[in-house]
Amino acid sequence: MAAIITAKNISKLYGEEPNLVKAVDDISLEIKKGEFVAIIGSSGSGKSTLMHILGCLDKPTRGQYKLEGRPVSQLSDNELADIRNKKIGFVFQFFNLLPRTSALKNVELPLLYAGVNKKERDSRSMKVLKELGLEKRLNSTSSQLSGGEQQRVAIARALINNPSVIFADEPTGNIDSKSSLEIMKIFQRLNKKGNTIILITHDKEVADFAKRIITIKDGKILADKIKK
Ligand SMILES: Nc1ncnc2c1ncn2[C@@H]1O[C@H](COP(=O)(O)OP(=O)(O)O)[C@@H](O)[C@H]1O
Ligand SMILES: [Mg+2]
Repeated sequence: MAAIITAKNISKLYGEEPNLVKAVDDISLEIKKGEFVAIIGSSGSGKSTLMHILGCLDKPTRGQYKLEGRPVSQLSDNELADIRNKKIGFVFQFFNLLPRTSALKNVELPLLYAGVNKKERDSRSMKVLKELGLEKRLNSTSSQLSGGEQQRVAIARALINNPSVIFADEPTGNIDSKSSLEIMKIFQRLNKKGNTIILITHDKEVADFAKRIITIKDGKILADKIKK
């Protein structure tokens, strides 16, 4: 399978000596299409910083990063924003949905930015929300939904542009354990359908849903294991 993520010797440094923080410290990594990878590590180990670089939300201080073979480390902020909209779906711990806005409108937003017309926006968004069991919640606003439901809306939004890769940063960090299990099963199902998923977590049980587990500590890869 083709590589989606190719990172070579990437580092992200904050501050200056003697207070220099190497949030990501010389990481090289390849992730192929169709993989389901968990990046696990304790708080402060560099997981979010690494995800921000791999997700084109931030640029490395050093090193080369390619998304689907295209070097992205040197692109402008506008070009990165365009790549994110077209190629990447994000799911965050605190959902990052628009408040006082319906589930349907939240999911349609990336399509609006991509210039898709209203009729197609509606039909595609309804289809994805239905697949996630939210057909009765289309018009509910974020505050009317449970945490688990809000996260399902966020997953629908992440899926709507058929992204090459989905990043989820602590997606179960803010929901109850029953809903967490549901969310992880959704990621597993999406991966079986062919979606490439990169999951960031500090929780071993959550990481166990993935097929490959990368452990990071102090900004470095400590272990990289594919499950049998
Ligand atoms: N914008 C920033 N400025 C300075 N230090 C930062 C910044 N972002 C993260 N760090 C530091 O980098 C390290 C890794 O942080 P982070 O990637 O958020 O870890 P994790 O997501 O694993 O908890 C931590 O020591 C953190 O304090
Ligand atoms: Mg984090």
